[in-house]
Amino acid sequence: MCGIVGYIGTQEAQSILINGLQRLEYRGYDSAGVAIIGDDGLQIKKTKGKVHDLESTIEGAPLQGSVGIGHTRWATHGPPNDVNAHPHDSTGSTFALVHNGIIENYNAIRKKLAEKGYTFQSDTDTEVLVRLIEDVRRATDLPLEEAVRQALTQVVGTYGIAVVSEEDPDLLIAARKGSPLILGIGDGEYFIGSDAAPLVEHTRQVVYLSDGEMVTVRRSGYTVRTIDNVELEKEVHELEWDLSEIQKGGYDHFMLKEIMEQPTALEDCMRGRVLPDQQQITLGGLHQVIDDLRDADRIIIAACGTSWHSGLVGEYLIESMARIPVEVEYASEFRYRNPVLRKGDVVLVISQSGETADTLAAVREARRRGIPCIGICNVVGSTIARETDAGVYLHAGPEIGVASTKAFTAQVTVLTMLALKLAEGRTLSTAEMAHNLQALAAVPDKVREVLAMDEEIEDMANVYRYAANFLYLGRGYNFPVALEGALKLKEISYIHAEGYPAAEMKHGPIALIDRFMPVVFIAMKDSTYDKVVSNIEEVAARDGSVIAITDEGNGELDDLCEYVLRIPKTEEFLTPLLTAIPLQLLSYHIAVMRGCHVDQPRNLAKSVTVE
Ligand code: AGP
Ligand code: GLU
Repeated sequence: MCGIVGYIGTQEAQSILINGLQRLEYRGYDSAGVAIIGDDGLQIKKTKGKVHDLESTIEGAPLQGSVGIGHTRWATHGPPNDVNAHPHDSTGSTFALVHNGIIENYNAIRKKLAEKGYTFQSDTDTEVLVRLIEDVRRATDLPLEEAVRQALTQVVGTYGIAVVSEEDPDLLIAARKGSPLILGIGDGEYFIGSDAAPLVEHTRQVVYLSDGEMVTVRRSGYTVRTIDNVELEKEVHELEWDLSEIQKGGYDHFMLKEIMEQPTALEDCMRGRVLPDQQQITLGGLHQVIDDLRDADRIIIAACGTSWHSGLVGEYLIESMARIPVEVEYASEFRYRNPVLRKGDVVLVISQSGETADTLAAVREARRRGIPCIGICNVVGSTIARETDAGVYLHAGPEIGVASTKAFTAQVTVLTMLALKLAEGRTLSTAEMAHNLQALAAVPDKVREVLAMDEEIEDMANVYRYAANFLYLGRGYNFPVALEGALKLKEISYIHAEGYPAAEMKHGPIALIDRFMPVVFIAMKDSTYDKVVSNIEEVAARDGSVIAITDEGNGELDDLCEYVLRIPKTEEFLTPLLTAIPLQLLSYHIAVMRGCHVDQPRNLAKSVTVE
């Protein structure tokens, strides 16, 4: 959600900042801006709209200078317009600040400052922080970094901020609480980014700031201290991603690239972990906690959105294979409803970005109550990855498209590995284990076969592109896939869609069915196939237009359905890894045909770092 970049060094800052903002576009935003300190002092350009709109405002009159900050805003306080866009500058325009997050006590601070005579141009909570810093300086005449630090001790809420000042052109300040920030270390130059995307082309050496930390950067070096003013020695990490991974690589959209990457993403996810020849699963990150997990009385999975859907698949997997009770919670509900947590419970959070505010809060709640907390994340070094007791990375590579695709199948793959690991030597015999591992290892090739059906799915999308509603139905392991299929369509094509367990249809949604209602059935030949066929009959009898996804070789549904997509057979517990893919492609093609902005759908952010 929204993004910050910063640069200090010897190169011209403008192109580094603009390029960095472009790399952050995938996070979702509505305005963009930069502030650069040059020979003529502080220069700010900002606008409602996209980074290319910002570029147009700068065209012909580049901002000169080698220190600066940039921002993509995802409005929380005040509409997206030029005035509310960041950076916000001090009265008299000596310093400028960009902010991600929400200053919760902004109203109280604003009131006090207004009484002192400060005026405000924007509706944002951010500008209040700028005036507060001014006020601290005015009262104390402190250096800017110290005034920023003291001001931050007075704010309640979340922030990632970056500040530059014309009074000190060798200074870049950044601080975070609840909004991620990374410092990139170059040769005589430094970079700030909300994530690694704007940094990878400049450096691989990074320092992850933790909550409540601030960094003061000069061309000669940097110092990290806490907001409470304790100096810290921070470890320097090596970035794993490289530039090619965050570029489109010939595809029209990141989403399509990421859908197509799934075979390799799943191979990478399983590499060194699924060992069919040795009948073994190795999950290094869980070594120390695997016994706690095996002996758990209950596993509580907390996540949001697509990650919550993969958690639901996880519930089916872990309960059926390892026979451990699992509950799946929306992280946003879990944190606020004073959940019953007992000794013997283990909390498992799932988050692609590792930065989702609600999921992070669930981690903190669990840990506060002394409950072991395990994370499944994609982004290495993300806050959730760092704050959980142990975890498993997806190794799916960066996911840039706002609609999650490869992260979903990689999450389900990790949960499958986890379920098998928990069942190992207990509820599954060696022969069953060997068989399941072989089947799992064969999934990436089957995913390739499903992806080869892309054209067929595109033709289908052409027929359904004008639909106003969609229903997605599935049972068992494929009920969460139905939810995920509906979410994908909603997110990127803005078509209303609902997912249901197929048998629930007759308890309500059946009333919606008429000839204008496309109904997507996941009808794999598994333990509930016959029941699902009855549901298809019920829809067909009411003139609904049925699209079915079933096993290759199955011709039984042809008379009942408008379209039948036949995908490779696999074990029942592995079907979500295949059935999710045609649904991703269907949404993708419909959205493209409707002229929607697939990679950055309206109003959505890639990682939701506010509540
Ligand atoms: C997925 O397509 C969504 N954009 C969204 O629901 C997402 O899955 C959710 O915000 C959770 O994100 P996370 O996995 O990064 O925590
Ligand atoms: N709350 C701030 C605003 O509305 C920052 C939003 C953001 O995170 O981009 O301007």
